[in-house]
Amino acid sequence: MSTDAQEYMNGMRPGPLTREIPECMRDKYTIVQTVFDVLAFLVVAIGYVIQGIYRSIVGHPKKDLKGSIALVTGGGGGLGSLIALRLARLGCIVVLWDINKQGLEDTVKLVKGVGGKCFGYVVDLTKRDDIYRVGKQVNEEVGRVSILINNAGVVSGQYLLDTPDHLIQRTFDVNILSHFWTVKAFLPAMIDHNEGHIVTIASMAGHVGVAKLVDYCSSKSAACGFDESLRMELEVKGVKGVHTSLICPYFIRATGMFEEVNSRLVPTLSSNEVADRVVLAIRTNEPLAVMPAYFCLLLPFKWLVPWPCISDLIRGLVPDAAPESMRITHHRVKPEEIGDVGKKDSRPMTVVPPARHEREV
Ligand SMILES: NC(=O)c1ccc[n+]([C@@H]2O[C@H](COP(=O)([O-])OP(=O)(O)OC[C@H]3O[C@@H](n4cnc5c(N)ncnc54)[C@H](O)[C@@H]3O)[C@@H](O)[C@H]2O)c1
Repeated sequence: MSTDAQEYMNGMRPGPLTREIPECMRDKYTIVQTVFDVLAFLVVAIGYVIQGIYRSIVGHPKKDLKGSIALVTGGGGGLGSLIALRLARLGCIVVLWDINKQGLEDTVKLVKGVGGKCFGYVVDLTKRDDIYRVGKQVNEEVGRVSILINNAGVVSGQYLLDTPDHLIQRTFDVNILSHFWTVKAFLPAMIDHNEGHIVTIASMAGHVGVAKLVDYCSSKSAACGFDESLRMELEVKGVKGVHTSLICPYFIRATGMFEEVNSRLVPTLSSNEVADRVVLAIRTNEPLAVMPAYFCLLLPFKWLVPWPCISDLIRGLVPDAAPESMRITHHRVKPEEIGDVGKKDSRPMTVVPPARHEREV
């Protein structure tokens, strides 16, 4: 080990902390400083916990979103369209991005039907250049986006070794890489105005692994990491006006994704309930929303109990996570077929029926 490194480890190397301190005191000062830092952290942490308890009893103040421009990716159906409707009702100007032209047109009509202002753009989120190009177009035609909701998602729903490479690539392109490009397109203006909100719709699948969802779970896990590290970066840079929210729902009923998934014990979530929760997280600047909320208490057990317990629990809860159409047909979809569905069809999700949602919105 070099003398420099050794001195550094001993706390002897002149640095911001030790420069002014007499040599004989340096080690002691480092210990005193560390104890002080830990105590200070504990006091501040207790303060935040008390504030959190107070807020959960009294409620959080809610932001007024009137006049904000909100962009929802995957807004042409499912959860995205329900979020769009709610934001429009709160007075937001809503911009929808989706690869599904028909779905987009239907949602724009739906939002306009409730008196909202809505603009739809056909964008393929697997194409970075499309994202940057249409991002510029939105800035010019609609205005500065201050709420970005990265909601679009796809799932392949097969065992890893049965999943064609291009579907794995698509899962990562849509479920996580597109978040990098959309954030790079809209975050700079949010920082300039010190005002903005970035929402990542991830999943409980970002926290636990499930068979037949290897590509999906790993992309959602990346989405969780994306949100947390982006939030940290904004804090380190001192950007106080731009917030991020990570949304982690369990399976949702009646969207185009996990059609009638085989879930035991834990009921699947209503898509309206999830859309309400997303909007609440935005209005209260909540960093994390897990649904159902009691999963927050279960998650730490993952690190505490032996793996066979976790494995049995997850396999018991979700005996088969594949979308229904792939289960009942028992038809091993050939790569060429899936490629066709992905290319010709405007439904980019899976080989499942078109996105739809519950009757009441
Ligand atoms: N459905 C569930 O059980 C569930 C559970 C947890 C998390 N989520 C997440 O919630 C989000 C919304 O899912 P959903 O259930 O509404 O699914 P959905 O299939 O109903 O909607 C997804 C939307 O994304 C769009 N999309 C897909 N690929 C695209 C691409 N390349 N370019 C542009 N748009 C594209 C689709 O056209 C569709 O409108 C997803 O991120 C999903 O992973 C869903």
